[in-house]
Amino acid sequence: MSATPLDPATETRLVEAAKRAAERAYVPYSNFQVGAALLLSDGSIIEGANIENASYPAGICAERSAAAIAINQDRRDFVAIAVIGPRDEPITPCGICRQFLSEFAKTLPVLCCGRDGRIQRTSIAELLPGAFDAEALG
Ligand code: THU
Repeated sequence: MSATPLDPATETRLVEAAKRAAERAYVPYSNFQVGAALLLSDGSIIEGANIENASYPAGICAERSAAAIAINQDRRDFVAIAVIGPRDEPITPCGICRQFLSEFAKTLPVLCCGRDGRIQRTSIAELLPGAFDAEALG
């Protein structure tokens, strides 16, 4: 997996923010807390957690939560995103989140984090080759 251009201090800040976000997850059905932290170009970080629903498909992932908050603050200057689940093993964004994020940042660096401290550094471009985009709409 490719390296992100983030310095170690920024990476740490982003991972810690993702962990904080995970504490706010609403997950009565899966009990699988996920946190995401989206770094913006001015160094600010927007946090999001997964929010589930009794109608299961109505739930939203942590990554899309964070992105939706950013966009609603008129911020689309995504620099990187970190995601963390409740287990030692790093998790990667689901397919819907990959597509959702690619709309705003096709090459967005992604830090897939594990509770054991592991970080797998990848990108939306790597995770979603051949993403459907606005060009395809003609
Ligand atoms: N989930 C996320 O929030 N992000 C991911 O990248 C993978 C899955 C959530 C959705 C659901 O609330 C729970 O994790 C179990 O799938």
